[in-house]
Amino acid sequence: MCDSPISAGHEKDGSALEVVASPALRKPSTPTSVAPGAQEPSWHVKASQPVNYEVRLCQGVFDPNRTDLLDAGRPDGNRTHRRFVVVDETVDRLYGTAMRQYFEHHGVTCEIMVVQAGEVRKEIDVVLRFVERLDAFGIDRRREPVIVVGGGVVMDIVGLAASLYRRGTPFIRVPTTLVGLVDAGVGVKTGVNFNGHKNQLGTYSAATLTLLDRGFLATLSRRHISNGLAEILKVGLIKDEALFGLLERYGRLVLDENFQGTSPEGADAATAILEAAITGMLEELEPNLWEETLERSMDYGHTFSPAVEMLGLPAMLHGEAVCLDMALSTVLAHRRGLVSENECRRVFSVMSDLELPTWSPLHTPEVLGHALHATVRRRDGQQRLPLPVGIGNTVFVNDVSDEELVAAIEIQREMATTSSVEVA
Ligand SMILES: NC(=O)c1ccc[n+]([C@@H]2O[C@H](COP(=O)([O-])OP(=O)(O)OC[C@H]3O[C@@H](n4cnc5c(N)ncnc54)[C@H](O)[C@@H]3O)[C@@H](O)[C@H]2O)c1
Repeated sequence: MCDSPISAGHEKDGSALEVVASPALRKPSTPTSVAPGAQEPSWHVKASQPVNYEVRLCQGVFDPNRTDLLDAGRPDGNRTHRRFVVVDETVDRLYGTAMRQYFEHHGVTCEIMVVQAGEVRKEIDVVLRFVERLDAFGIDRRREPVIVVGGGVVMDIVGLAASLYRRGTPFIRVPTTLVGLVDAGVGVKTGVNFNGHKNQLGTYSAATLTLLDRGFLATLSRRHISNGLAEILKVGLIKDEALFGLLERYGRLVLDENFQGTSPEGADAATAILEAAITGMLEELEPNLWEETLERSMDYGHTFSPAVEMLGLPAMLHGEAVCLDMALSTVLAHRRGLVSENECRRVFSVMSDLELPTWSPLHTPEVLGHALHATVRRRDGQQRLPLPVGIGNTVFVNDVSDEELVAAIEIQREMATTSSVEVA
């Protein structure tokens, strides 16, 4: 930076831009022989952009009396009459008629693109197919936010495509899975798998609005409810003992009832568990939206799991890989005296209650050793491994050795024999 900077700033579209330039910006006179690095002009640009988005509970999103989906993202009160909608194939089969009737009722013309979900389809070619269709549709990006209805896979694909298309096209998310409601639908990350690595291509891009309608969970398979409960359990384990207590007491009930509250007890529990999970998740995400701080408690369960999940495809689900990782991390913490034996057993017991795996043959010293090294690369050279402290607190460690890992894997396998679920 020069000695006497000239500073200029302006505000536009809510983003503050400050440009600091130097007298050296003036056209240089005669080129002289300057030693490399000395006195050469440089320009520093500093800008910031506020992020502002809403996550809203919304019962009956396709109820004709509700207009949340159409009101969102219109800048001046003029409701436009076109939308581009991307929908998960299964969701389209189950809710497509209600969705089309909703748009028809409100006089909105839609182009609907149906895409298949599943981790193996989370690839860049789907992103490119989508932007081609968007181009042909000729979207008015200031008035016609893209709508995505589906689970984490479809939302991640559409989020990435929307953030790339014309450097950012607004989008609205309607998650239809439990992972979507409590995790993929509330943060700002988008992405697809690439080159054998999970979410290798991605952006940070917030949806304008996410509408959370738990009614969609009525048709979700029991295994996918369990899968989402893994991410909820994560929040309980690292920051909310009361949420863990709710899962201990009512986890099996909400699983049996698909979060639909068919009993009064189940209704209260479903509401309390979902609200605590979403609040906890957002509390952790908001201060570190772009993940500049690499010590993230929400990475609990995400140290070993990315590699294990990719190896376990297509059989293994994301939450299952996360649960395996949480089980191992709990044992690591127990061996260090951070979690008592009783707490460790309670954690394994809740995992089993939620029908989540606590052991997989993929948990070998080789796989997990490689997984840890890959994570160290992602976390700027350090493990930054979140371990639970009791139930509801976390500490980050950087010194897990290969020997410690091997010993913990063995204990995990033994403890898992008393719990019942195992995945390939
Ligand atoms: N962006 C983020 O911050 C974030 C956070 C967590 C997870 N994720 C990503 O989310 C993905 C997992 O999401 P997922 O578990 O929702 O998987 P998914 O999107 O593949 O959906 C799971 C299955 O449920 C079906 N389905 C969806 N809604 C349904 C409904 N209402 N009724 C019946 N079936 C329904 C789908 O067709 C699919 O077969 C992973 O790729 C993960 O990386 C992203």
